[in-house]
Amino acid sequence: MTDHRLPYEGPIGVFDSGYGGLTILRDIRRRLPQYDYIYLGDNARAPYGPRSFDVVYRFTLEAVRYLFAQGCPLVILACNTASAKALRTIQQQDLPEIDPERRVLGVIRPTVECLADISTGGNIGVLGTYGTVRSGSYDMEIAKLHPSFTTTSQACPMWVPLVENHEADSPGADYFVEKYIDALFSRRADIDTILLACTHFPLLYDKIRSHTPQAVRVVCQGEIVADSLADYLTRHPEMESRCHKGGTCRYLTTENPESFSSLASIFLDSPVEVNHIDL
Ligand code: DGL
Repeated sequence: MTDHRLPYEGPIGVFDSGYGGLTILRDIRRRLPQYDYIYLGDNARAPYGPRSFDVVYRFTLEAVRYLFAQGCPLVILACNTASAKALRTIQQQDLPEIDPERRVLGVIRPTVECLADISTGGNIGVLGTYGTVRSGSYDMEIAKLHPSFTTTSQACPMWVPLVENHEADSPGADYFVEKYIDALFSRRADIDTILLACTHFPLLYDKIRSHTPQAVRVVCQGEIVADSLADYLTRHPEMESRCHKGGTCRYLTTENPESFSSLASIFLDSPVEVNHIDL
């Protein structure tokens, strides 16, 4: 049943398990600076990568409800793990009951849609968290949209902690980057496109690039998701008109705001003011 107590218009919500979605937010704000945004990082319960379907779904739904209560007509799950494990159920089961006028969008579909323009040979390597890889979401979406493509997925569980512990530029990072890239290519040597299917991985881009054969394309999602959101808002003027335009962004975390601020500076160019919330 529609909850008429919820505000009907407001900022665009951007949700991530923690910091990683800031790489997506940064590109969304560059592409669409005119809108107001709320970024919510569930840092107190991150990482989501190793968590079960049920837990990621429950946590993500709590975050979506919270953002709806802040007035967000539209929420972007800027987290591959949440998109892989929670998006479909929220869209199909929860939204019709919470409010059929609101929308929740993820990052997997828009990324996969672009692959036809990017890949030269149709052999895709997907790098993500354990959760994203085990969910098989990319494999299924790629098979659906590009039936002739092959998908080889590799979990890179050490990459998120490297980024979050300020080790992305260290020699230790080279070791783990090489390890997972080698593991990917040992399973399929003719991969022509690598998809960085985790929001933290763009921070390791230079190292990933340096350990990957030059002819192979390495794809980050931020600009793809930003372009897809711009396209969505153009095609849905009824939603676009409900998104407030003031160019602002509020940052919320379920953890300590000071820690969030300090780590957020790795992902964004300038310092941010953060508030604590409980889900
Ligand atoms: N943001 C998550 C993703 O894109 C990675 C971090 C986590 O495991 O919570 O998959």
